[in-house]
Amino acid sequence: MCGIVGYVGFRDAVDVLIEGLRRLEYRGYDSAGVAVRTGDGLRELKRAGKLKALAEALAQSPLSGTVGIGHTRWATHGPPTDENAHPHRSGKLAIVHNGIIENYLELKRALLEKGYTFTSDTDTEVLAHLIAEHYRGDLEAALRAALAEARGAYAVVAMHQDEDVLVAARTVSPLVVGLGEGENFLASDVPALLPYTRRVVFLEDGEMAVVRREGVEVKDLAGNPRPLRVTEVDWSLEQAEKGGFPHYMLKEIMEQPWVLENTLGGRLDEAAGEVRLELPLDPGAFERIHVVAAGTAFYAGWVGKYLIEKLARLPVEAEIASEYRYRDPVVDGKTLFIAVSQSGETIDTLEALREARNRGAATLGVINVKGSSITREADATLYIHAGPEIGVASTKAYLAMLAAMVMLAVWLGRARGTLDPAEARVLLHEMRKLPRLAEAVLSRREAVKRVAAKYHQATDFLFLGRNLHAPTAFEGALKLKEISYIHAEAYPAGEMKHGPIALIDEHLPVVVVSPRGPWYEKTRSNIQEVRARGGRVIAVATDGDEAIREHAEEVLYIPEVHPLLSPILAVIPLQLLAYETAVLLGRDVDQPRNLAKSVTVE
Ligand code: F6R
Repeated sequence: MCGIVGYVGFRDAVDVLIEGLRRLEYRGYDSAGVAVRTGDGLRELKRAGKLKALAEALAQSPLSGTVGIGHTRWATHGPPTDENAHPHRSGKLAIVHNGIIENYLELKRALLEKGYTFTSDTDTEVLAHLIAEHYRGDLEAALRAALAEARGAYAVVAMHQDEDVLVAARTVSPLVVGLGEGENFLASDVPALLPYTRRVVFLEDGEMAVVRREGVEVKDLAGNPRPLRVTEVDWSLEQAEKGGFPHYMLKEIMEQPWVLENTLGGRLDEAAGEVRLELPLDPGAFERIHVVAAGTAFYAGWVGKYLIEKLARLPVEAEIASEYRYRDPVVDGKTLFIAVSQSGETIDTLEALREARNRGAATLGVINVKGSSITREADATLYIHAGPEIGVASTKAYLAMLAAMVMLAVWLGRARGTLDPAEARVLLHEMRKLPRLAEAVLSRREAVKRVAAKYHQATDFLFLGRNLHAPTAFEGALKLKEISYIHAEAYPAGEMKHGPIALIDEHLPVVVVSPRGPWYEKTRSNIQEVRARGGRVIAVATDGDEAIREHAEEVLYIPEVHPLLSPILAVIPLQLLAYETAVLLGRDVDQPRNLAKSVTVE
């Protein structure tokens, strides 16, 4: 995640930077730092921990100047230390960065050969040295040349001791320019700008901004001028912190393409057909796996079970954490115990992990929040890098967990020799498309809104799905019930005929998750069974599947993707359906009744 701020003008830059960072702290708070062009050259100050630690350090050693950059960090590469905090320096220049430079290791190798030395573990320091390597008295040209060599996601702002300018660029990660009189600003998000201006320019992917006191130029990455598209923002501060969205939940649903970039970023080695997870575990040492979690995280674990069994041919049990620890599970030194959790604090999951560890299992956390209890207690952690999730109903963390589960299954399959490199390459190639495909699903929100408008008065819903989409059905039902308070049940589609079919009548909306894949034909038969009994089918289907329209009242389409990856796309319309339904019913979407974000009681 990370928040970045830049200022060039007449005010004290440090005041502007600290105020801006305070408003961006929701984007991460592992460390914070500023760099300022002072009378005494470029100077920076940075501290691990929350912004408060930086503010205290600045009170002890003040910096003064009218041009500066600041950063608040959600750690990705390297732990949250002073050294890894941004800004990162290379000689007379400093940069702040949000995103992941995927080819940083390869760039670092080349820079080491040229004699650069590194003081942090970050990909950002690599970018700083790369810009310095290209610097010939023109910061804009140097940044452009460096970015031509870098691959990945970034919002970056650079400054140089000898130039009165900030140069910024973005691809994937957000960046906004704030326009003032005799001063201009940069920030990851609008709230940081609101105390000073409401006139902003949202930079688009592949754009750069050259920001001076007297004006701002926007260009593409080749240096061609682009028009300055000025937007007047008219947001309350609270709205603005939600990035202009009415609810955190919607913001978090809409940022899922970025989340997938972040989860997968730097981990897929397509050429080798390998996933690089750098886990201190021996994948050959296990005879069985237990995946344990609660709620939404459990459904991600359930998908993980099917994927690992298929690709790594290891027996996997997926279990709800609150059940696991009290049933005397069979665990030994040949067991890999995987805890899946957004917060890393869910007590049921943590206690289950302790139980398994005490019985000799190796333990792995698949976790979002850095430094949380499970990450401290597990032998290894695979971070999902979804950024702070504030809406109580989990959405973006679920997608990130699913992506992590695919990576884990490929990692185990490759290491154990059950997945050949050619097959892995096909899967990795498809995984790279996921952010773009998720974006395509989100662009179809209007279709979901129409479905919600039609069915939001229903008192019950049924959700069905087979195999990898049974968990999708359960997650869809959970989302709907927790934020709309409509009763919803989910079943593996094949189980319907063993009882739940009695529920079906002309009043019951039945959501059937049926994208193309090996289970498609069978699921379609289940749709026909529902139709034959008058049920109202809402199908989630693959683009081009016109035949399904014969049996479904409504179809929500998702793009074609490798069947093993389809749970990542198919859940998105269900998240939106729950959201739009809850909004129509006037529910408190971000803080549904009776729930809490992190459940630390049993
Ligand atoms: C549902 C939801 C909960 C959590 C569950 C586990 O939207 O948010 O079901 O998934 O409480 O939480 P974590 O992932 O923090 O362990």
